[in-house]
Amino acid sequence: MNILFMGPPGAGKGTQAERIVEQFGVPHISTGDAFRLAIKEGTPIGLEAKGYIDQGLLVPDEVTNGIVRDRLASDDCKTGFLLDGFPRTLAQAEALDQMLADTGRKIDHVINLKVDRSFLLARLTGRRICRSCGSTYHVLFNPPKQEGTCDKCGGELYQRSDDTEEKVGTRLDEYTSKTAPLLEYYGNKGLLREVDGEKDIDAVTAEIGSLLRG
Ligand code: AP5
Ligand code: ZN
Repeated sequence: MNILFMGPPGAGKGTQAERIVEQFGVPHISTGDAFRLAIKEGTPIGLEAKGYIDQGLLVPDEVTNGIVRDRLASDDCKTGFLLDGFPRTLAQAEALDQMLADTGRKIDHVINLKVDRSFLLARLTGRRICRSCGSTYHVLFNPPKQEGTCDKCGGELYQRSDDTEEKVGTRLDEYTSKTAPLLEYYGNKGLLREVDGEKDIDAVTAEIGSLLRG
């Protein structure tokens, strides 16, 4: 099954993706995670992406499309994938259609996590992530059992450098101007499924699961 997760920053895409990939046995492709890894490793792509991410701006399409093209060509994506955070512009959506058409594939479901902007700042500034396994927590809405420590692996939790109030504002503006128009693009193709992302985490997972099982 080939799935896309859409939704503004902080809607819960990463949180839900962690759970849905386990249930459906497909690989999780997050362009945000791919950029953060490239930055950590100091690769040329990481160096280029860092300047944009640090400002809360989208990384240029050519760079982002290249990462996804390479990832989709790998064997573990042949029978399905969950793309989280891509596409984010019309040019990326068109490039994705072409990448899939070239290899005889198509998108099966586009899940849009709907969350009002008023919730997003608190979700993002309270987010904490495990340095070792990447699991996501929230200081209030999904706290770890022991403050600062991952429940799953005991790793240290950190705050993303773009989860500050100022950068969240820019990220939300980028979403509104460049990414939100894609909802119409996928709506017109009959692929869009809306999910209420304001419910609690388990309820959202259940709703996505039942939509995907059809
Ligand atoms: P990326 O890493 O994709 O960030 P994002 O889209 O801004 O999304 P987030 O990871 O911030 O939010 P999320 O929806 O995954 O929420 P989460 O589940 O963590 O991108 C980062 C940057 O990389 C971009 O700004 C850009 O520069 C670049 N980039 C990436 N892809 C790109 C592309 N395609 N093109 C160009 N540039 C690109 O949840 C958030 C918090 O809320 C967590 O603490 C969680 O515990 C909590 N939470 C989740 N669900 C709930 C719930 N139901 N109730 C209460 N709390 C909840
Ligand atoms: Zn961990």
